Amino acid sequence: MAEPPKSSFVVVANRLPVDRSPQPSGTEWRTSPGGLVTALEPVLRQQEGVWIGWLGTSLDNAEPFEADGLSLVPLKLSADEVERYYEGMSNATLWPLYHDVVAKPAFHREWWEAYVVVNRRFAEAAAASAEQGAVVWVQDYQLQLVPAMLRELRPDVRIGFFLHIPFPPAELFRQMPWRDKILEGLLGADLVGFQRPGGAANFSRLVRDRLGHKTHRDQIILADGRRVATRAYPISIDFSGLESLAKSDAVERRRSEIRAELGNPRYVLLGVDRLDYTKGIRQRLRAFGELIIDGRVSVEDTVFVQVASPSRERVDQYKEVREDIEQWVGRINGDLGRIGRPAIHYMHSSFPRDEMAALFRAADIMVVTPFSDGMNLVAKEYVTCRYEDTGALVLSEFTGSADALKQAFLVNPHDINGLKDSLWAAMQADPRDLTRRMRAMRRQVRTNNIATWAESFLTDLGGARLAAAAS
Ligand code: G6P
Repeated sequence: MAEPPKSSFVVVANRLPVDRSPQPSGTEWRTSPGGLVTALEPVLRQQEGVWIGWLGTSLDNAEPFEADGLSLVPLKLSADEVERYYEGMSNATLWPLYHDVVAKPAFHREWWEAYVVVNRRFAEAAAASAEQGAVVWVQDYQLQLVPAMLRELRPDVRIGFFLHIPFPPAELFRQMPWRDKILEGLLGADLVGFQRPGGAANFSRLVRDRLGHKTHRDQIILADGRRVATRAYPISIDFSGLESLAKSDAVERRRSEIRAELGNPRYVLLGVDRLDYTKGIRQRLRAFGELIIDGRVSVEDTVFVQVASPSRERVDQYKEVREDIEQWVGRINGDLGRIGRPAIHYMHSSFPRDEMAALFRAADIMVVTPFSDGMNLVAKEYVTCRYEDTGALVLSEFTGSADALKQAFLVNPHDINGLKDSLWAAMQADPRDLTRRMRAMRRQVRTNNIATWAESFLTDLGGARLAAAAS
């Protein structure tokens, strides 16, 4: 393998932030417009940073390369590792366990072994790319062992870790056979960041009770003579970038086209999710269907658009949730739709950013109903696109976003009657009330955007220089 690029700033994430773009001359990689890369791009550019991750394919060519001027180090996973580390341990053990056991987590020793092996590969790659005294920022639940592994290889570097999903209460976390190893892995970092204060408190309590470390106010942990800080850093989005896109002529044209294609209904309700069992998609569709059955809503003037982007399709629980949702869509449309007037427009696909912005612009009511969600950026994207302060957000109280978007119509997605009432209340609300709510929510996201998120994490990690670059 070619000599890896070196830098004073290294990001380590399960995935590289690139999409494949087929060109006549062969494959080209473009950085994907995801939140994390947008947040870190200024720092990565200024520091000539390096991003280490998996390409998500089994391409033979695993040499470091550049995309849009960013330096990327692809790591290879074998087919077995994809099955055990990614689909297994990451997405059939940790994902359901950390999301309130909405689905039952499976515990398999061979998945754990692959998780250890792959985490070590990431840690070694980070060690090879980090200059003396570099800052290394490790991302998310797939890589919880990397901080300690990297510290062992490179005690000179500063290590940050951020968990993008919820961190569960001790009562659930304790189920995991490898619970203490995960805690020790995370404690290799200097700063462990969570989405919500509750996650930091859960972590602090676990390291105190299980590992016997001293903790101070759930913010400082004294682990074997080292200080590890822990705190919540609620992630956000690129407010100004998305708002300008939403204001563009092309998006405005597409917005009216979408409404016309839907038959210019009075109300457009919208759901946008990765097709995941944590998202509460079935509950929102049922609630909508029942509103039609009750006669409160009519398919003549109201339509529900549900975009469900394909995700983790080889994992059993994801196959099951897809079948379940598609049966419900079929049933509701079969029972309640009319010719040219389906109750639900369901799309199992993902769309580019401008099409999403047009959908957000076209929707009167955005419906976000997860049972558990670290943050939920779709809710923040919707309010960002509503620059005329119109539209309503129906939002599950079990999302990190609910902490900030308090003026949403907050719901418990397990309570179908409550969900129906909130959808109805959002549809019936006085436009002045909606404007007041939307204005407050937009102010929140404008102020607490993705740059402020990166800046506050990097400041606390001790890199004032990096933090300045992030702003
Ligand atoms: C969540 C996780 C990310 C993950 C993303 C997409 O947002 O927090 O780490 O990358 O889902 O899932 P995937 O398994 O396709 O990477």
